[in-house]
Amino acid sequence: MVVDDPAKRAAGVAALDEVRAGMTIGLGTGSTVAYFLDALAADGPSGVRGVPTSEATRRRGEELGLDLLAPDEVDRLDLVVDGADELTPALDLTKGGGGALLREKVVAEMSDGMVVVATPDKVVDRLAESFALPIEVVPFAVGPVRRRLAARGYVVQLRDGHTDNGNVILDARLPGGIEQPGEEATWLSSVAGVAEHGLFIDLAVVALLGRPDGTVTRLEA
Ligand code: A5P
Repeated sequence: MVVDDPAKRAAGVAALDEVRAGMTIGLGTGSTVAYFLDALAADGPSGVRGVPTSEATRRRGEELGLDLLAPDEVDRLDLVVDGADELTPALDLTKGGGGALLREKVVAEMSDGMVVVATPDKVVDRLAESFALPIEVVPFAVGPVRRRLAARGYVVQLRDGHTDNGNVILDARLPGGIEQPGEEATWLSSVAGVAEHGLFIDLAVVALLGRPDGTVTRLEA
């Protein structure tokens, strides 16, 4: 049985206020977004269609009777509602704790705005200091990518299992955290074999932070 989390529920339900009738939106992944999906199915405006960011969200969306689309069926998304593992006050994010980062970033880049649903404990000054940055890697390149990351100072661990895309995830922690997330994102994207990394820079426009008493703080980028 899933234990109810009132803080995550407050954030997920609050995101419904961002959605208007007839919108086509991205549906994120994770335990906070799960509350948004429930609220969308129960109380959402009419005519909303959604592109899921993972197989888990696609399955849940089907169960809830949501109108789902694939990315190639739509040019742009009005917004995406998604969770985060860490966020800075400038709304740079670490994502991928649930392993869905690649599809999450594709959908975020299709969207006119990313609405983050999270809790205040996820706000950090520096990314990847306490939470390891997930990096999705094609299986052939795990050894070489791991060595490149280690040479840059990362402490790297291979996660069990495969992503929805058949890749693997390296969880990479940088002692002291990432000082320049934008530059680091550019470097990570330049490493051959990296399919995607969990730094989401300049994508989020709003964060809704839920508390156990049901109140929600809104941060804007
Ligand atoms: C999935 O890959 C992640 O990016 C999630 O969005 C993130 O881990 C937040 O998940 P929770 O809402 O479950 O904390």
